[in-house]
Amino acid sequence: MFIAGNWKMNGTIEQARTLARQLANQLPTGAPTTALFPPAPHLSAVLAEVAESPIFVGGQDCSPHVQGAHTGDISAGMLADIGARGVIIGHSERRTNHGETDAEIHAKVSAAMRTGIGVILCVGETREQREAGEAEAVVRAQLAAGLPDPLSGNAVTVAYEPVWAIGTGKVATRDDISTMHRMIRAWLRAHQPPLAETFILYGGSVKAANADDVFAADEVGGALVGGASLKADDFLGIITAAMNA
Ligand code: PGA
Repeated sequence: MFIAGNWKMNGTIEQARTLARQLANQLPTGAPTTALFPPAPHLSAVLAEVAESPIFVGGQDCSPHVQGAHTGDISAGMLADIGARGVIIGHSERRTNHGETDAEIHAKVSAAMRTGIGVILCVGETREQREAGEAEAVVRAQLAAGLPDPLSGNAVTVAYEPVWAIGTGKVATRDDISTMHRMIRAWLRAHQPPLAETFILYGGSVKAANADDVFAADEVGGALVGGASLKADDFLGIITAAMNA
C-alpha cells in the first residue's frame, strides 16, 4: 500500500513543520509507504522534519521544461535537487484551474521521469461524464494520453480520483471503485507492462471513517488524501486502516 497526503495550498510554514513532525514521530512501525506533498515553499521545512523517518516528500506539480523563462514554474530537476522524491501530475484541480491538457501532462510525466523522481498520475471523470456513461472511456483516454509510450522505468503510480468526489465528502461506492480500478489494472497490463503491478490509488474524500471500505475495493493499492491529510490523527487513521486492510 501507498498512502499520499496532498496538502494543496494550505497552511503556514509553522503548521507544515508541526504536522510533518507529528507524522514522523507517530508513524507506526510497519506503516505502508507514506508520502507528503506540501506546497512548494514548505518543501524544505517538511523535508528537514521527516529526514529521520521513512516518510518521503514530493511536489504537487512540475514544469514540462528543464529550465528557462517560465515564470512561476518549478522544474522536476529543482524538486529532485531539494530532496523531493516524487511529484503529483495531472491533478484535476490543475486540469480545471490551469487548463492543463493531456499533452502537457504527458510532457510533465516525461520530464519527471527523466529526472528520476516518482510520479503520481491523476485521472478521473467529472460528474457529467459519469452520468453520460463515459467514466471508463475518459479514464482510459487520460491514461493513454498522459503516459509516455513506451515507458522507460516503472516509477509511476496511478491515482483514480473522480472529480465529483474530491473535497465534496462524496466518496465513490466500493463497487464503482472496484470496477474502475480493475479496468485501470487491465489497461496497464495491456498497454504499459512496466506498470502492470504498480499501485493504483483511490482519491476523493478518503477519511479514517471510510478508509476500510475504500481499501476493501478491488485493486486499490492505497489512497491520495487531501483534506484528511491536514490533521495528523486523521491521516494516521487512514495509515492504520491501510495496515489492517
Ligand atoms: P480530498 O482531496 O481528499 O480532500 O477529497 C483528494 C485530492 O484532491 O487528492
